Amino acid sequence: MKAFFGIIGHPVEHSLSPCFQQAAFDACGIDAAYVPMNLDPLRAEDTIFCLKELGVSGFNVTLPFKELAYRKVDQVLGIASKIRSVNTVFLKDGKWEGYNTDVSGFVKSYSVFLEKSSEPADHFIVLGAGGSARAVLEGLASMGVSSVSVFNRSLERVQSLLKEFSSEKYITLNELSKIKASLDGKRWHIINTLSRNAFPVQGAFPPLETIEKSSVASVFDLSYGREGETECVAWAKKRGVPFSDGLPMLLFQGALSFEIWTGIPAPVKEMAKAMAKALPYRKDLMDQLSV
Ligand SMILES: NC(=O)c1ccc[n+]([C@@H]2O[C@H](COP(=O)([O-])OP(=O)(O)OC[C@H]3O[C@@H](n4cnc5c(N)ncnc54)[C@H](OP(=O)(O)O)[C@@H]3O)[C@@H](O)[C@H]2O)c1
Repeated sequence: MKAFFGIIGHPVEHSLSPCFQQAAFDACGIDAAYVPMNLDPLRAEDTIFCLKELGVSGFNVTLPFKELAYRKVDQVLGIASKIRSVNTVFLKDGKWEGYNTDVSGFVKSYSVFLEKSSEPADHFIVLGAGGSARAVLEGLASMGVSSVSVFNRSLERVQSLLKEFSSEKYITLNELSKIKASLDGKRWHIINTLSRNAFPVQGAFPPLETIEKSSVASVFDLSYGREGETECVAWAKKRGVPFSDGLPMLLFQGALSFEIWTGIPAPVKEMAKAMAKALPYRKDLMDQLSV
């Protein structure tokens, strides 16, 4: 019988996961279908369990359900328990196992990016304090960075992050509005985890508009565009600052999910090709991914 996989989110139509996960199953000769599943956030507490009844073998989780998935799985494994966020669920012996592959996806893609951009800087800025910021902070810690400043719009969320990372003395947390005053004459690697829909004005990325190019060593944006570049990437491109969008991270977190479900190495090149085919505006994607 055909195995059934997918991704839950709201909205989820924009997701690229179906195209590259299906390509992975096909390339490995696995008889499986991977589909997008849009859950109503008001009913998701209950409807998420339908996936078990329907015999879904495994699924990815995107906004806004990663914390819900963390609460609903039978067993949380690995780094997911530390950051309380599950983006990959696997049905094993009738029970849901919950994993987080965002941290590894970030570390892999960000390490490649930093090596390629070869811009020296010891200081890192994380824009945002949501679920993906927690994954990024965990990833940066595993990479051994020694200076990170987090900036976020709402102070409340900054403070809750402060509680979680209070033992990490190399992390400072601030309000987003104070970013310019906090730069301190140093050069910074900037990692953007702010939601893309927060910046509806095309071509403008307010969090960085007041910042001098000379303070910025590189920009890594977790978001990505299906039709064109993100506002954060446009900011960096215009100023000649090395940049990456979130597509490499998306690919590597997805490859790891595939490996959790199937137990075999992910066909990363085939997955990257499928991703590139779905994004005609990104002609450079295969070179950037180096797979
Ligand atoms: N490439 C990948 O593989 C990958 C993986 C994970 C996530 N992502 C992307 O990362 C982004 C964030 O995801 P998430 O899970 O961290 O979301 P989240 O938990 O909802 O956090 C969203 C962040 O955006 C900020 N924000 C929202 N609206 C804003 C506004 N109008 N002005 C200023 N800040 C605003 C929030 O600040 P407040 O706290 O003040 O609300 C918060 O810091 C999404 O675009 C997602 O697609 C990509």
